[in-house]
Amino acid sequence: MSEGIVTASYIGATVLFILALGGLSNQETSRRGVMYGMAGMAIALIVTMASVTANMGILIGGLVIGGAIGVVLAKRVQMTEMPELVAILHSLVGMAAVLVGFANFMDPGRLEHYAGVELTIHDIETYLGILIGAITFSGSVIAFGKLSGKMSGNPLMIPGRHFINLGLLLGSIYLCMMFVDQSAAGGGFMPLLIMTGIALLFGIHMVMAIGGADMPVVVSMLNSYSGWAASATGFMLNNDLLIVTGALVGSSGAILSYIMCRAMNRKFISVIAGGFGTTTGGSSAGADVDQGEVVALEAPEVASLLAEAKEVMIIPGYGMAVAQAQHIVCEITKALKAKKVNVRFGIHPVAGRMPGHMNVLLAEARVPYDIVYEMEEINDDFPNIDVSVVIGANDIVNPSALTDPDSPIAGMPVLECWKGTTTIVLKRGMATGYAGVQNPLFFEDNTRMLFGDARASLDAVFKNL
Ligand code: TAP
Repeated sequence: MSEGIVTASYIGATVLFILALGGLSNQETSRRGVMYGMAGMAIALIVTMASVTANMGILIGGLVIGGAIGVVLAKRVQMTEMPELVAILHSLVGMAAVLVGFANFMDPGRLEHYAGVELTIHDIETYLGILIGAITFSGSVIAFGKLSGKMSGNPLMIPGRHFINLGLLLGSIYLCMMFVDQSAAGGGFMPLLIMTGIALLFGIHMVMAIGGADMPVVVSMLNSYSGWAASATGFMLNNDLLIVTGALVGSSGAILSYIMCRAMNRKFISVIAGGFGTTTGGSSAGADVDQGEVVALEAPEVASLLAEAKEVMIIPGYGMAVAQAQHIVCEITKALKAKKVNVRFGIHPVAGRMPGHMNVLLAEARVPYDIVYEMEEINDDFPNIDVSVVIGANDIVNPSALTDPDSPIAGMPVLECWKGTTTIVLKRGMATGYAGVQNPLFFEDNTRMLFGDARASLDAVFKNL
């Protein structure tokens, strides 16, 4: 394929990726955004394959195997398992960057193609690609373990961890100088290998030190790292499209991390430095503290409270995803609207286990977009709400985030549903949420509990409506 066609196609794919990101920024245009992204990726794959001249068999074999694994995973994965799937996919991008880096370094033609300053630049590209790739790889594997519950979600606080991180950073810089020096003489493998080990350790340590309610930032941060790893791979392979695409993913992930931090009232540096805002057992962290009595209701009583209300706010959380209750929520919304009840949805930015988790579920159930509001748009409306229905949410409606400075989630803005007339909380028992903090909301005078699996409970409420 001629170089002109390849360049034009790469520009076309880049434009489609930018349109995809633009589309994904809004629920109404997100489907279109996904289509743009798919079209861009199809063009990128076809053109890249068509411009390869050697080893076609290996390339097609890799595509078939990788594609088949992707299809099987996509068909099998439950919506609640998406965060850990995303984490493990990020780890593959990191691993690819490491492998491409080593292949690049071992390329026998390297010293023939590059010399002097060009060789130094090429070596630094390789070094950075492997460094970022290894951090992304090991960090994502740990994030996978934490998000899937295979490892404890609590942050690991090693004494002197900041000094360990600083030592690893200084070690990497020193090894980079050694690598560049030795590379010109045909060596450099050892410093590269030692740095890879250091970067793998750093990735593990970094994500181990973050936990609890700060995990959303880890997800978006690793998303960003995987983009930079892809971009570094693009530099190593001299592939402009990979550089640009990686930079788009890297910068959008960084913006998402910033948005997440702002939503949780955290400082990015404090989160990645690890353990910010975590206590070793502050007053509200204990689930054992006696907070009073809870008042439980049955489905018929909940149905009549809803039918008599004028203003209803539905607050979905992770439990709605577990129960797959979004469809029955949509049915109840329609039934209440038919009774002239004004129903709205309040979405917390970190509800569920991945950015936009609740929006995706509600869109799947075809809840109209115009009644779905972000937290900051509706948080002041709660004094006018007759009934708030909290469906499998916990941390995002925890008042202690605002009132208890010792709480592990202190300072995180939450949906202030307790300011309304009545709050109904749907959950199976009195378990804590992801951050492991007991929730005083359940013990408020105007809170009523509807115990049981959210879907079964809502089915019963719907029948009574
Ligand atoms: P959580 O605080 O995790 O609370 C979910 C609640 O749902 C639990 O208390 C659980 O109580 C209940 N539940 C589980 N299965 C249920 C079912 N089948 N039916 C009814 N209830 C069920 O969720 P949240 O309020 O959405 O907050 C999200 C948390 O996850 C935050 O701490 C956030 O920082 C963290 N996090 C978020 C992300 C992103 S990017 N969104 C990523 C990682 C972590 P029972 O067991 O008693 O039923």
